[in-house]
Amino acid sequence: MSRKTAVITGASRGIGLAAAKRLIDAGWQVYGLSRTEGPDERVQWIPCDVSNPESVNEALDSACMQAGRLDLLVCNAGMGISGAVEFTSEEDAARQIEVNLLGAVRCAGRAAGALRKQGFGKIIFVSSLAAVFPLPFQSLYSASKAGLNVFSDALGIELEPFGVQTCTVMLNDVRTDFTDSRKKSVRGDDIYGGRIRASVEKMERSEREGMAPERVAEEIFRLAEKKKLPAHRIVGVSSKLLGFLGRILPTDLTLRIIRGIYG
Ligand SMILES: NC(=O)c1ccc[n+]([C@@H]2O[C@H](COP(=O)([O-])OP(=O)(O)OC[C@H]3O[C@@H](n4cnc5c(N)ncnc54)[C@H](OP(=O)(O)O)[C@@H]3O)[C@@H](O)[C@H]2O)c1
Repeated sequence: MSRKTAVITGASRGIGLAAAKRLIDAGWQVYGLSRTEGPDERVQWIPCDVSNPESVNEALDSACMQAGRLDLLVCNAGMGISGAVEFTSEEDAARQIEVNLLGAVRCAGRAAGALRKQGFGKIIFVSSLAAVFPLPFQSLYSASKAGLNVFSDALGIELEPFGVQTCTVMLNDVRTDFTDSRKKSVRGDDIYGGRIRASVEKMERSEREGMAPERVAEEIFRLAEKKKLPAHRIVGVSSKLLGFLGRILPTDLTLRIIRGIYG
């Protein structure tokens, strides 16, 4: 039987690269879709910009054709912007949704046909706890991840009769280049009483002390090998506890807590 095959978007560094390495170590064949090539030659790089529909279609078709089967798609490519909504440009807002949400929608949409026809396969979306704990001054990022969660749930129901499963993996703080790559704006910080800078700096400190990407990779690997996927998976004990609290606390109380920490 041919080797299990995964396509991972954003496998050139960070969480995507760690997940690719973990799967390859376990015998999987991995195609990495990103704009730049990563450092691990075992990952079969296919140039792809998830914000470009033609690029996504070409890259996914090429991976599926070369591999002959697709066991797993990990929609992981992402970036972050921060700043006050009223000072966020239309261009930056659109880019955030374009890469994080529409990029994943495109990849999943293109892979869905192949997965449906072969009658098995999994799609894992790399999401964030910000999807359920919306962050001030990262509202567009939070919205992109909340959209991803809902999209995954709905798509999972569509594809279930064809043996295809979906799952969102929600993360809190992970030590990657994501923090330094964030497009930050402190425009209007004087009007907002210094809250923009303070909020984002707090988040960045937590990210720099966050879990290693290999921890997330291990979770993705476990899900890849699992028979039945959960709809949502939160990584990390303290994050799981947060997720549980988010489910049982009234929304107004949850928002008051978030305001106290990041407001
Ligand atoms: N780090 C955290 O604390 C954290 C927490 C929660 C969720 N997440 C999520 O985890 C995912 C991975 O993030 P990370 O921490 O590993 O960040 P990272 O180290 O900055 O890696 C981001 C990856 O996404 C790719 N990418 C970005 N824009 C792309 C585009 N337009 N087309 C194709 N690929 C693109 C990058 O590759 P190229 O630049 O080569 O294209 C890179 O491989 C993201 O979705 C992020 O939102 C991260």
